Amino acid sequence: MPRRSSLPSLILPLLLTFFYSLFAAAQAKPVDAEGHQWWQHAVFYEVYPRSFADSNDDGVGDLNGISSKMSYLQELGVDAIWITPCYPSPQIDFGYDVADYRNIDPMYGTLADFDRMVAEGRKHHVRIILDFVPNHTSDQHPWFLDSKSSRTAPHRDWYIWRDGKGPGQPPNNWISGFGGSAWTLDPTTNQYYYHFFYAQQPDLNWRNPAVEKEMLDTTRWWYKRGVSGFRLDAVDTLFEDPALHDNPVLPGTNAQGDPNIENKNNQYFPEVHQVLQKLRKVADESGAVLIGETWTANIADLDRYYGQGDNELQMPMDFMFTSVDKLSPPEFRSQIAAVNGAHGWPVFVISNHDIPRSYNRYGDGKNNDAIAKLMGAFYLTLRGTPIMYYGEEIGMENNDPTRKEDVKDPIGRTGWPQEKGRDGERTPMQWNTAPNAGFSKKDPWLPVPPSYQTHNVATESKDPNSVLNLYKKVLALRHTNQALLEGSYIALNEDDPNVMSYLRSYRGKTVLVALNMSASPKKTIFNLSQQGFGRANLKSLIASPEASAKGNEITLEPFGLLIAEVTQ
Ligand code: NOJ
Repeated sequence: MPRRSSLPSLILPLLLTFFYSLFAAAQAKPVDAEGHQWWQHAVFYEVYPRSFADSNDDGVGDLNGISSKMSYLQELGVDAIWITPCYPSPQIDFGYDVADYRNIDPMYGTLADFDRMVAEGRKHHVRIILDFVPNHTSDQHPWFLDSKSSRTAPHRDWYIWRDGKGPGQPPNNWISGFGGSAWTLDPTTNQYYYHFFYAQQPDLNWRNPAVEKEMLDTTRWWYKRGVSGFRLDAVDTLFEDPALHDNPVLPGTNAQGDPNIENKNNQYFPEVHQVLQKLRKVADESGAVLIGETWTANIADLDRYYGQGDNELQMPMDFMFTSVDKLSPPEFRSQIAAVNGAHGWPVFVISNHDIPRSYNRYGDGKNNDAIAKLMGAFYLTLRGTPIMYYGEEIGMENNDPTRKEDVKDPIGRTGWPQEKGRDGERTPMQWNTAPNAGFSKKDPWLPVPPSYQTHNVATESKDPNSVLNLYKKVLALRHTNQALLEGSYIALNEDDPNVMSYLRSYRGKTVLVALNMSASPKKTIFNLSQQGFGRANLKSLIASPEASAKGNEITLEPFGLLIAEVTQ
């Protein structure tokens, strides 16, 4: 017999809903007179959960590990962490193959650990952003297991199934981003299913309203659990041509040995914008933020991801900035000008779990620490929101495998030696000088590089000139200086091939940033009369190494940087 509901059990959900709506309303409020939202003032930090902190010493990081590092993150100056997928998963693509969107992989903990992490985050003013993988599931997801079981299964149309062109021939010439055909034949029903990525990551059919509903509801479910937003994985790939036209074939082959192909008919379909608008509506119910993994070739495409009425992604990432892969002031200037010309708020990234670490990409092998400081001072003082990558703040370097048999990332095995995979940028966070950099007592899933002896949190905390302390100083300034939080961006000395410099200016407060991107000392003079400074005086706020400023003239050491207040 059903039990009669007791009064507390009726009141509790009502109370929870009431407090949740108060919390949501507070999240959505602008934080300043400029109408900026919380995420425009926040500093984001990407955590790769396998590699951040291992609380149970099994060699793989976990949620309790992340919880234990909240005070580190707060002291560093981080306001929100984006955790790459931590849902149950066979881990073929290290979590980007999701087998259940509403749970936590036992390797990382439990939903109770997740709730504790959110609570711990709140105590330290660190919000939690999860990674949402809308394009595909794992082939072990119950939806796919059902889908492949028969042509009439309830979930058959949740994925993309087609007959081959003929015996042994896939439906068309589309190539998976991770190598080989984008189609795999499933013998049970003798049809092919489509996968933009690995065969173990079948693409969901977003033209099916049931898929859309389930996915939207899933995001709402997590918001109610305390998540402040999502990073949306691979949004470019959500839709494809239903008529399955072949893609144009280009000359040559790629690292996986496949013909080069232009993804004309399976990427960048306009239908994605309707989905983003719907995801945004749900996000807006909670004042949450949507960050996009938006690999675009130009600013017009990036601009579209904000939505015509600012009703899609608040934070599409500008990966064109990461593709300026050398210390080139002219190239950075033109990329910043372009992104400032888009109608949304810029989002800057210099590293992530898919690209080699910035320490190596920009480093010259001799001055890497100075260059790491320079790059930190650069993108953390631009107009926009930065997303850091764990370990960047201590100058962590890539640790690429040297033997094929050590490679964990499948694309590194199939593409060896041309493509070594992404293991190198995913190694454990370097906490101290203990074995395995203090990450775990057990050998970690990926080895730490020998440089952990000098580049780790404990050692660098004690050194006032470390990369870590420079990051801390810049982040502290960024949180308190109105010009850096709100100010416009004005490029200076635009013909200078070596020193990248700009002003950030807001209501009479002006900060000048000057970055010597060359290996020799540089003297630079700033004429700021156009900016209303007859005789500008520069007062150093942060310099590395010490930089001399006389009036409006400065001298920077090789790869030196200066952040200064400008006064009359
Ligand atoms: C982009 C993710 O960042 C990457 O790590 C993953 O392999 C693919 N999407 C597939 O989900």
